[in-house]
Amino acid sequence: MIIDYKDVNDLNRYKIMSDTVVPRPIAWIVTEDEGIINAAPFSYFIPLSSDPAVVIVSIGEKEKGVPKDSLYNILKHKKATICFVNKDNMEDVKLCATMLGKEESEIKEYEIDVQRPLEEYPPMISSSQTALFCDFYQKVELPGKTTPIILEIKKQYLEDGRLDERSHVNIENIGRCGAYFKAMVDV
Ligand SMILES: Cc1cc2nc3c(=O)[nH]c(=O)nc-3n(C[C@H](O)[C@H](O)[C@H](O)COP(=O)(O)O)c2cc1C
Repeated sequence: MIIDYKDVNDLNRYKIMSDTVVPRPIAWIVTEDEGIINAAPFSYFIPLSSDPAVVIVSIGEKEKGVPKDSLYNILKHKKATICFVNKDNMEDVKLCATMLGKEESEIKEYEIDVQRPLEEYPPMISSSQTALFCDFYQKVELPGKTTPIILEIKKQYLEDGRLDERSHVNIENIGRCGAYFKAMVDV
């Protein structure tokens, strides 16, 4: 069958696209504003280039005209720490998808352990095997409710033992497949 996207409503188009473009990595983004640490997962997320080292993530609205806290914080402070999900912190990332008020912190609310290896960036989720410390690079103009943001990776945390002498990284990410979380498997 051929699906003509002009005949599909918004919700079904979202479902079809996110069940098709799989597996997707999950950016577990930590941001800050006025001392409140925010953390939320985003899977409309992908690397764009290694030179410059940039990734793109699309973030929607809480309600009409009100950006999600992560987007608000990135646009205001120009900093984001992108953490990755593994089997040890999967339950925490699910909790972080809950829509909390702007003045509430997922980190505090769900007692998620964070550490701050770099003073100038938001903290990282301690159980992440790797994290990208990013600066805001540019916003992509799109009509609609979602704002794609390009972030430039300035520094990266990697757990000891995960980088080999040939600069290959070995991490055990969990990704998004439609409504499900899936681990990478060897084929
Ligand atoms: C695995 C996963 C992926 C998600 N991907 C996105 C996404 O790409 N864009 C988006 O706007 N929301 C996405 N969400 C929903 C946000 O995580 C959710 O709206 C969150 O409450 C936003 O938090 P914030 O207001 O603190 O930024 C995703 C949720 C989950 C569980």
